[in-house]
Amino acid sequence: MIEEAAKIIAHSRFLIAFTGAGVSAESGIPTFRGRGGLWENYRIEEVATPEAFRRDPNLVWAFYKMRMKIMKDAKPNNAHLVLAELEKMGILRAVITQNIDNLHKEAGNQHIVELHGDIYRVKCTRCDYMEDLLESGKLEDFLKEKNLPKCPECASLLRPDVVWFGEPLPQEALQKAFKLAERADVCLVVGTSAQVFPAAYVPYTVKDNGGSVIEVNTKESGITPIADVFLRGKAGEVMQSLLVKVKRYLESEKC
Ligand code: OAD
Repeated sequence: MIEEAAKIIAHSRFLIAFTGAGVSAESGIPTFRGRGGLWENYRIEEVATPEAFRRDPNLVWAFYKMRMKIMKDAKPNNAHLVLAELEKMGILRAVITQNIDNLHKEAGNQHIVELHGDIYRVKCTRCDYMEDLLESGKLEDFLKEKNLPKCPECASLLRPDVVWFGEPLPQEALQKAFKLAERADVCLVVGTSAQVFPAAYVPYTVKDNGGSVIEVNTKESGITPIADVFLRGKAGEVMQSLLVKVKRYLESEKC
């Protein structure tokens, strides 16, 4: 199986990766669904919708600050690092991610499409103000502040620049993702249950255009039925072995 996946990747013309929470699980970031997932302890309608934010911004901000604290201490794991290396090798053209944890960037990938936003970015609910708390160096102060965050320009409430249920995805990212998916001949799907749309259409688009789908997951997902190769296991471990085999394959073809 893994040999077959390595061969497909080594022969690919335009490989893209589509990632979900499972790619960051080994970095200590909880996933959403399944045992121990965030949606076991929190209700989507209470913390991840525009209505929830209007009703109780304190509760929603508490949820995102809790996640910010976990994410800021997390480091990229082998799965992120392998994806960065595949890009450096000129094989992987882009990572399309549903994650908001910034770990693909930290690992070194340059071509990243974030479909669900970025947890470190905040934006005003009224004007155009936007701030990247990592870039401005204000993350620690932001996390310590007990009051609700307010816009420095118009004093309205700030919100996290993430996509909530019931909201459209950022238009530019969405278009970019589907353009890439239409061009791709192989899609490497890592650690997603593929239950949230439109993001999960990315691998289907590759498949519909005649491309191949390789899936890495600890268990079957919504994508498994269309996967040409399913690699069961932890992303960090599977991706590491896959990289070794891709390199071996490329070496053997040089001879
Ligand atoms: P999910 O929590 O739905 O799925 C995580 C997937 O990762 C599951 O299929 C697990 O089997 C798999 N998994 C867990 N640990 C793994 C590991 N170590 N290695 C490989 N696979 C592993 O997360 P997503 O599919 O990312 O949206 O969820 C999609 C969206 O739903 C999220 O972006 C978020 C969520 O609600 C919004 O908040 C809008």
